[in-house]
Amino acid sequence: MMWSVVILLAAAFSVESYTVHDHERLAHGRQLKIFLSKNAEKLEFTPADDPSKTFLYWEKGRLRMSKGRVSGTGSDRRWYIDKVTYEDQGTYIQRDFWNKEISTFKVAVTPRHNYVKCVAGESLYISLEGIDLADASLSFSGEAANVTLVRDGARMSQDLVDYWDRVQTHSMNIEIRNVNFSDQGHYILRNRRDRVVSVTRMDLTDHHEYTGGNPLMALLLLLGIPAGICCCCRKKIFKKKANTAATLQTLPSTGPVGPSPPYSGPGQPGAVRLHLSFLSVCLHISDSTS
Ligand SMILES: *[C@@H]1O[C@H](CO)[C@@H](O)[C@H](O)[C@H]1NC(C)=O
Ligand SMILES: *[C@@H]1O[C@H](CO)[C@@H](O)[C@H](O)[C@H]1NC(C)=O
Repeated sequence: MMWSVVILLAAAFSVESYTVHDHERLAHGRQLKIFLSKNAEKLEFTPADDPSKTFLYWEKGRLRMSKGRVSGTGSDRRWYIDKVTYEDQGTYIQRDFWNKEISTFKVAVTPRHNYVKCVAGESLYISLEGIDLADASLSFSGEAANVTLVRDGARMSQDLVDYWDRVQTHSMNIEIRNVNFSDQGHYILRNRRDRVVSVTRMDLTDHHEYTGGNPLMALLLLLGIPAGICCCCRKKIFKKKANTAATLQTLPSTGPVGPSPPYSGPGQPGAVRLHLSFLSVCLHISDSTS
């Protein structure tokens, strides 16, 4: 009995240590980055929507990539996509010279949640998060109205009195000009398959809190985190940011909402997570308004 337990444990341990399985949940529009192993010869992708297909995304020595880009050399080589979409959900497999699988990386994409504050009279920009304008639909839900502003890239807003000529479409974003109280609420961006790409909550404010400088640095000083730690953790912060953003920037009253983050006392990992999430929210606000 005892021996069988030991053997089982040993078996479990060896499985654990020999297969390199990894996964990541990314908010729509974030960068997907995969470190290429030193002896990787190719990177294959199997989409989650169609597991019977396999695409060759990168091959050693070939300059033209069928998808994504490669930067760095040697052991610091990485393949990346600037803005991840639902089509990039699936399994990324690296193979060596003998076509043997050396790593498997699963990617899941979640809707992005933004919280933006605008001053009356400003423009609100809703990023397309990597989808084409022709595939984008934007609806607004608030106390003043529940309307579709853009459908498949075309402005429905031109038929609405309150929105006439206030909605402008661009290649990277949709702009709502001259915002005011009636524009407060949730903006839901969907792709052609009607999947939610992002939910942006907009509230009016009488002024923007930060003025110039680096908002990340100012925030770190405010939180009393020494700059040294910041440099050490920079990689981690940005990795974490992707994960925490999805849970932290959730909104209380819309459809696809995740659980609120767990609270833990200071000194516990949860406290660190809380700070990191705070960073991502603020960074995001600055991203959206700059
Ligand atoms: C916003 O709305 C308020 C009240 O409706 C109005 O007084 C104000 O002038 C508006 N601001 C802008 C910038 O249009
Ligand atoms: C829009 O929908 C929301 C929630 O479904 C509701 O609370 C709000 O009153 C609606 N607004 C209008 C103008 O009907």
